[in-house]
Amino acid sequence: MYLHGTSRVNEKGHLEIGGVDTVDLVEQYGTPLYVYDVALIRKRAREFKNTFEELGIKAQVAYASKAFSSIAIVQLAHEEGLSLDVVSGGELYTALKAGFPPNKIHFHGNNKSVEEITMALEAKIGCIVVDNFHEIDLLKELTKQLSQKVDILLRVTPGVEAHTHDYITTGQEDSKFGFDLHNGQIENAIELVLHDPHIHLLGIHCHIGSQIFETKGFVLATEKIFRKIAEWKERYSFTPNVLNLGGGFGIRYTKDDDPLPMKVYVEKMVEVVKEHSQQLNIDLPEIWIEPGRSLVGDAGTTLYTIGSQKNVPDIRKYLAIDGGMSDNIRPALYQAKYEAVLANRLNDKPNETVSIAGKCCESGDMLIWDLPLPEAKTGDILAVFCTGAYGYSMANNYNRICRPAVVFVENGEAKLVIRRESYEDLVHLDLPLHTEMLASAK
Ligand SMILES: Cc1ncc(COP(=O)(O)O)c(C=O)c1O
Repeated sequence: MYLHGTSRVNEKGHLEIGGVDTVDLVEQYGTPLYVYDVALIRKRAREFKNTFEELGIKAQVAYASKAFSSIAIVQLAHEEGLSLDVVSGGELYTALKAGFPPNKIHFHGNNKSVEEITMALEAKIGCIVVDNFHEIDLLKELTKQLSQKVDILLRVTPGVEAHTHDYITTGQEDSKFGFDLHNGQIENAIELVLHDPHIHLLGIHCHIGSQIFETKGFVLATEKIFRKIAEWKERYSFTPNVLNLGGGFGIRYTKDDDPLPMKVYVEKMVEVVKEHSQQLNIDLPEIWIEPGRSLVGDAGTTLYTIGSQKNVPDIRKYLAIDGGMSDNIRPALYQAKYEAVLANRLNDKPNETVSIAGKCCESGDMLIWDLPLPEAKTGDILAVFCTGAYGYSMANNYNRICRPAVVFVENGEAKLVIRRESYEDLVHLDLPLHTEMLASAK
């Protein structure tokens, strides 16, 4: 059993996280319940930040809030001195509502609307990561209308395929994101913005993939970008003040994953950027990164209650939990793998292999296949590890299942940061066809 962060087995044989007994959490908040180990998030954030600081490099570490966006996590990111990456009006709204400093917000997205760009400009956010020609047109028009200047990065697809699952790769040439680095697109984009009176081209952005376990992909992408910088320096006298190398740093979901310490990625990036800047005799650009999963992924654990069981003799035993693809769609979406334990019986040795089924009306709603567990009973608590990234943020209301609650735990204290959705919340946006039919009208 691999325990992340502050997780441990307490004297009752229960899983404890952040000094709080998960069985007590279930009694108080119910299941499914997302539990975040705040100390572990702080540790990860500091590892990134301190490495840049120790190397004396100007940097921004922006939390990619798509991994898990809520007012509390945004505030925690601020407490830890992080910047913030948002990709929609909704994520931007959450950040502003949380009181996050707008000048440390970076706005991504491959189809930002007029309303979203206007919202970002009016809030005077730190920078917009421009993805395509349509966005350049919009930005020129809107900045002129509002007589406002804006810092931008241009996102490029460097054509580096990082070793990762195909469905979650965003850095290939055949990608919906960014300007191609090699077919003239990026030069067209630079020419369109370089002398615009309202747009300031701060630098270049790339993101090569997700759940990456080696530094090679980052090195290759950086080298390709620097080859272009050499050209741009001659042709436009332009060199980037900022190089944003994205996120994608891999974490340990299961024993098959062997991630690098986060500082190794940072050290390698710094080494390569320094070496190439020196070769070109240009000022060292600021290095920005935007980790999501590696900041919050292994800090999240989901607690479920085990309900029904089905035995298919000689084939498999299914254990059903009170959640599934409605609170964690990753296994159904891209066969993501997890480890799990019985949180109320940690000292019991696994003596059978079971498969964990969700409660949604989809046979693909399977959370874990072939999990070793002690023989489980109805009412036992299943703790699934490493669910902190792209879990709650992708939660949905399929089958009109209510989204779970989220608690932060630290130093023996639990704090509810997202309350459980209620049935009333579920119908909150519905408008009747026949008002007189409503239960409340009778
Ligand atoms: C542009 C960009 N930046 C950062 C991230 C965060 O990636 P990760 O959570 O793998 O660190 C993503 C994820 O898809 C992304 O698309």
